[in-house]
Formats: sequence, structure tokens, C-alpha cells
Amino acid sequence: MKFFLDTANLREIREVSSWGILDGVTTNPSLLAKENAPFEELVRAICEACPGPVSLECVSAQGPDIVAEARGLAKKAPNVVVKIPITLEGLRATKILAGEGIGVNMTLVFSPTQALLAAKAGARFVSPFIGRLDDISEEGMGLVEEIVRIYENYRFPTEVIVASIRHPRHVVEAALLGADICTIPFGVIEKLVGHPLTDAGIEKFLRDWAKVRA
Ligand code: E4P
Repeated sequence: MKFFLDTANLREIREVSSWGILDGVTTNPSLLAKENAPFEELVRAICEACPGPVSLECVSAQGPDIVAEARGLAKKAPNVVVKIPITLEGLRATKILAGEGIGVNMTLVFSPTQALLAAKAGARFVSPFIGRLDDISEEGMGLVEEIVRIYENYRFPTEVIVASIRHPRHVVEAALLGADICTIPFGVIEKLVGHPLTDAGIEKFLRDWAKVRA
């Protein structure tokens, strides 16, 4: 399973990259707005700091505008992937951009039919938003299960990015379902490593080792 970091924060990206487990980054307008930094400079730095794909989101609504915006974003760095919300206009744009070799991450996906359409249009990635479904008492992970099965049935090459992750259990469930990627906020990715029994075990070994050396 690939791990993307769901952030536009450079410090977080550099930190997780130094752990050796970072495969990509996803941003969105809300994450970029938190950074309070000039867009061009920030994007350049993120694309340099990240070893894999970096998603940048298009905000245009009409097909030709989305295509033009996406082409501009894709020129910023070789590892840019353009994020496009799933709409009919977004699908039209995806078909054109995929034909030009520009990677599309189809975003704001909340149903299996949306994911099926994204794959048919040639999206490289599809992003079902799990936490936002859980927030309204729906079963976010059920959507991931359906998408993974549909893509397997038809051997679509589109990779599933489990997005809107709220806690480590989301990562475990996505992995059990065989989703390709989780895009994880820094606060959650940090929690994946810790366990109180590991801490207690280290402490005990150190205490006992001190006796061996005494
Ligand atoms: C990722 O591509 C999305 O932008 C992100 O996971 C959304 O997460 P949120 O629902 O916590 O805003």
C-alpha cells in the first residue's frame, strides 16, 4: 500500500519523507489556504520535497476551463497530478487530459457510479472521501470495498486513494480491502507507529540491559 500525505505543509512533508515511507502528497484548496504562503513557491517546494505524485486541484467548472487550468498546473513540475472534482464537465476534461498523458486524480467521490465513470474516463487515481461519509452516518469503507471490487472485475488500472482519513483504523480497513493508496493527515500518520507495549518493552529491555552491563 502506498502512503500519501494529505497536507500542503512543507515541514510535515519533509518530516514524513525522512521516515522513508512517503509515496506522494495530496493537497486541496482548503489545505493550501492554511499555509499562508505564496502558491507558486509553495508548490515548487512541495514538488521537490515529495518523491512521488503531488495532487493540485483545479477550481474551474467548465470543461475547456478545467483543461486549460489543468495543463497549467501540470507544467509546474513533472510529478504534478491534477485533481478534478467528479462532474460531467470534469469527466469531459479528464478524457482529454488523460489522452495527453496528464495524470488526473478524480476527487470528491462519494458513490461507486462516480468511481466507475472516473475509471472509464481514464483517471489515474480516484479519491473516495471516507471520513465525510462517516460524518453523515454512512459507511465510508463500504464505498471503498465496492470501488475496489468494481475495478478488479474490469481490471481498470485506476488506483484507489482512500481520502478523508480520520484515524488509524481507517488505514487498517483500507489495507484489508486492498485499496492502492491511503492519503493520510500528519496527525494520523504519526499515530500509526506508536504502541504502549512497544514503549514499555523498550523501557524494560533498557532496564535489564543496565543490569547485564553492571
Ligand atoms: C484528499 O484528497 C482530500 O482533499 C482530503 O482527504 C479531504 O479530507 P477532509 O474530509 O478531512 O477535508
